[in-house]
Amino acid sequence: MTTYNIQNLVNSHILDLRPYEPGKPIDDVARELGLAPHTIIKLASNENPIGPSPKAIEAIKQHSTQMHIYPDGGGYHLRHALSKKINLPTDHIVLGNGSNEIIELAYHAFTDGNCNVITSRYAFVVYKLMAQLFNVPFIEVADNNLHYDLEAIQKAINAQTRLVFIANPNNPTGTRIPNKELIEFIESLPSHVILCLDEAYYEFLQDPPPTLDLVRQGYPIILMRTFSKIQGLAGLRIGYGLCHPTIADALQRSRQPFNTNSLAQAAALAALEDENHIEKTIDMNNAGRALLEETFTRWQLPFVPTSANFVLVKTGNAQKTFESLLRQGIIIRSMVPYGLPDWIRVTIGTPEQNVRFLESLKSLLNIRT
Ligand SMILES: Cc1ncc(COP(=O)(O)O)c(C=O)c1O
Repeated sequence: MTTYNIQNLVNSHILDLRPYEPGKPIDDVARELGLAPHTIIKLASNENPIGPSPKAIEAIKQHSTQMHIYPDGGGYHLRHALSKKINLPTDHIVLGNGSNEIIELAYHAFTDGNCNVITSRYAFVVYKLMAQLFNVPFIEVADNNLHYDLEAIQKAINAQTRLVFIANPNNPTGTRIPNKELIEFIESLPSHVILCLDEAYYEFLQDPPPTLDLVRQGYPIILMRTFSKIQGLAGLRIGYGLCHPTIADALQRSRQPFNTNSLAQAAALAALEDENHIEKTIDMNNAGRALLEETFTRWQLPFVPTSANFVLVKTGNAQKTFESLLRQGIIIRSMVPYGLPDWIRVTIGTPEQNVRFLESLKSLLNIRT
């Protein structure tokens, strides 16, 4: 039989790619450590601690008998509901398999090997992964003490720059950009650059920036939003992009015909109208954020004040903190892959989860207060 060397056939930039490291799944931890799954808490992926909207669960039950039928690739009902809710015509709205897919579609539609893409250090890591996947030159501008340095980004933009990625609030830092600064930055961008503004945690902001107005005015920006966080539908993979119709058309051409599935569309449609679930999520997050930030302050543990549903906190030796908490059935995220070896990121959980996390961390760090 012929000897096959498949490795030689793989594109070299794919071999060089370091795959995304997701939060450790509960089942894996249960198997590896012999723990009962229900005793494990996952505060690692910024998921919604109260679960999905009950209306979404009901919608899925109702639509499940139709899952032998291909979905409506255009997502007519969901796009119309979004259009009504945010007062933006449907030709400005593109659905994605999670907002992550909108990132990918932007690379498909707007980049090639001759252009470059810019973001900040400590920005959401998927922007960089996609650049590697598409073999597109990628520039990471220095941060300003874990915040975006918009002036430095402006200076880094050159004639080849096609996309700029900014997450507001940002993951993993939890930082936000003041509204005025953000709007001035968008207005100042040269016309050959498209800004991909990742608003995955937008709903957690008490005074969100008026970015939709800028889309309406025709600025070349793509707002990326998701049902994964506030609506608690991360497992279904559904998000959306909001942009000028010409940009939307390019993104639509770049997607698979059935990129979002019918159950995800039905659940998202129901969750969109579930104001009660959204309010509960925000209230629980506000209370949890206050508890975590007050506690870290009292313990004199450096942390970054958050505008999202997670907190970046400096515990020292993140890998050790991660492993020790894991043994107690608490999954958090070490920030070693982000180049912050002394920091962990913890998702704000239910009151019980927050207390359990804090008690374990307190004893681990030998804190006496
Ligand atoms: C900044 C940011 N953007 C996008 C996403 C991905 O969201 P989705 O589940 O919609 O793909 C995340 C998820 O953690 C995120 O933190």
